[in-house]
Amino acid sequence: MGKPRQTLWKLDEHSEGKHLVLKSYLDAWFPILSKYNKRLLFIDGFSGPGEYLNGHKGSPLIALEAALLHTHKDVRNQEIIFCFVEDDESRLQHLKDLVAEKYPVLPTKFSIYYANSKFDEAIDELLTLIEEQNSRLAPCFAMVDPFGVSDTPMSILNRLLKNSKSEIYISVMYENINRFLRSKEFEPHLDRLFGSDEWRKAQELNDRKKRKEYLYDLYKKKLKESGASNAIHFDLNKGDRHVYSIFFATGSWMGTDKMKQAIWKIAPEGDFVYRGGAGNELDLSVPNFQPLIQAISDEFSGQWVTTKVIESFVGSDKTIFHSSQYKKNALRPLEERGQLVIHPDDVSKRARRFTYKDNIRFKIS
Ligand SMILES: C[S@@+](CC[C@H](N)C(=O)[O-])C[C@H]1O[C@@H](n2cnc3c(N)ncnc32)[C@H](O)[C@@H]1O
Repeated sequence: MGKPRQTLWKLDEHSEGKHLVLKSYLDAWFPILSKYNKRLLFIDGFSGPGEYLNGHKGSPLIALEAALLHTHKDVRNQEIIFCFVEDDESRLQHLKDLVAEKYPVLPTKFSIYYANSKFDEAIDELLTLIEEQNSRLAPCFAMVDPFGVSDTPMSILNRLLKNSKSEIYISVMYENINRFLRSKEFEPHLDRLFGSDEWRKAQELNDRKKRKEYLYDLYKKKLKESGASNAIHFDLNKGDRHVYSIFFATGSWMGTDKMKQAIWKIAPEGDFVYRGGAGNELDLSVPNFQPLIQAISDEFSGQWVTTKVIESFVGSDKTIFHSSQYKKNALRPLEERGQLVIHPDDVSKRARRFTYKDNIRFKIS
């Protein structure tokens, strides 16, 4: 992605995938967290101007509207702090004007803070203030959406993720990383991006696929070092060409599960790739659930387990599948093949065959 100079620019087709997943995830995230928390925080660390020349909404507007127009009234009554950080003054001003024009009156418990600042400096200031006050960061979703790789040091992401209720949704410009991997001047940027020099091993990997896999695993490992228990990613392609990826890190398997559901909606083949402008609309292929069956069998065969345990495994970052898929597409086929038996004490708890309530125990062979 080239860096536009003007205040507004056109949204690339592939970047729409990032917004579709964001919207779908926030639709699920706001009501779940509103149930249990007094205050929520949404940070848009590279907010942009709020709209695009080709009519698309920007991420701050998507987030604001996900809360404002949510069908659950609890969300509209929830205390939510939106923190929009943008270092370009004219883009931030455009965003302020746009929000003021579209939403002159917000629900009383919503507040918006605009910071004309660099992402890492704004977050450092926020976290230092919280530390000084000896208080805790509210459950937080941070969208981190830079143009390049220089402004998102792992050190600041790690500080955010130290709070077990923080989640990060970050764009990683793989095209740039791959192109400049062997350039001396780029090394300090990559050291900061990964928070380590381990990425250098990728310089020796000539196989493109292996190189990407190594760097992606490393990035996830680093995101998880400070507390996030789950990290996943999906790819944004321009047609068949991979451009960049979004990584999501969270301390919650349920958050991971919801994020995977959002990704499956835009990439229904189950390969976690959004192909902007290349017929994402019409997909007639059927996902292959054999890897899900295999993963469940490998993890649990020979032991009595409950449906609930399987659900938290499937929903976590250990699989690419989500919790609405495993009963019909894994447990049922296993039982049909005689590879899943219900615990004798639980058989009577079942109203019908091929149903799997939370507390039903079974063994997979
Ligand atoms: C990819 S755009 C963001 C798009 C926006 N998140 C969306 O989805 O609509 C990146 C934005 O970050 C701003 N920016 C660049 N460097 C920054 C930094 N270090 N801190 C904060 N904002 C920055 C740019 O001016 C630009 O508006």
